[in-house]
Amino acid sequence: MQIKGVTAVVTGGANGIGKALAQALHQRGAARVIVADLDGDKAQAVAQQIGGQGVGLDVRDGDAMGAMIDQIEADHGPIGLFCSNAGVLMGLDDSLTTSVNASDAEWQTSWEINVMAHVHAARHLVPRMQARGGGYFLNTVSAAGVLNQIGCAVYGTTKHAAIGFAENLAFTHRDGGIRVSVLCPQAVQTAMIEGTGGGGSAGLDGILSPQDVANCALDGVEAERFLILPHPQVAGYMEHKLADYDRWLGGMAKLQRMLREGQA
Ligand SMILES: NC(=O)c1ccc[n+]([C@@H]2O[C@H](COP(=O)([O-])OP(=O)(O)OC[C@H]3O[C@@H](n4cnc5c(N)ncnc54)[C@H](O)[C@@H]3O)[C@@H](O)[C@H]2O)c1
Repeated sequence: MQIKGVTAVVTGGANGIGKALAQALHQRGAARVIVADLDGDKAQAVAQQIGGQGVGLDVRDGDAMGAMIDQIEADHGPIGLFCSNAGVLMGLDDSLTTSVNASDAEWQTSWEINVMAHVHAARHLVPRMQARGGGYFLNTVSAAGVLNQIGCAVYGTTKHAAIGFAENLAFTHRDGGIRVSVLCPQAVQTAMIEGTGGGGSAGLDGILSPQDVANCALDGVEAERFLILPHPQVAGYMEHKLADYDRWLGGMAKLQRMLREGQA
């Protein structure tokens, strides 16, 4: 799709990858960028720098998401690109010894932000996009959505679910002109990886800047590619996983052991 001239929304746009996406959209000539975030003041500050609009939004609230979409389309016309980017990393197992440490509250919050927020956006926008012949969703997921996450079963599981929803959205509405991309980086230098010791296993292939990840994401959107991998190594890991699942699980167990013993 052509980014120049589009009206775009970025959730979780006050910080990190979302902020970089909003800035990159502006640099590539988006007509209007709406920055939505739980932190409405910071969203407004980011929006102000790029002539956009900042909105306070909790992506867990489907009604609030619908009201925001209604208001944006009333004010600025059709949303051409919706970037579901807000996400959380919680329920970490620092000891790297268990998959069952996280609380129900951590599972529930992660499910609502990492998965249901994408559903809420699509639920409100798909009928509109279909009626006008198309539209685009860029969902920030993670390499954890295709390779899982050592030390965080909650994150690995909810990010897999986000991939599942995006795939379904992409093939079900393809004939209606709707296109979907999933952005799946490994470690990115944002607040999310602070205190994780360089991103843990996700940092082993290097930590990218949010700006590089945002530019890679928009290149992928312009090329209408479903799977966007800012760390190209991820494609190889996916091939290994599909070629021999049991061997891949053995490799992951070994890597987890090495990380636990401080050898990786
Ligand atoms: N940083 C990484 O290494 C990395 C790697 C792969 C994928 N990701 C994904 O990238 C996305 C962005 O993460 P980031 O690294 O920029 O993190 P970040 O913590 O810097 O930014 C996340 C933003 O989301 C907002 N947010 C959180 N909960 C919200 C809610 N309920 N409603 C609205 N906004 C909310 C926060 O206020 C924050 O501005 C996430 O989906 C994350 O899972 C990050």
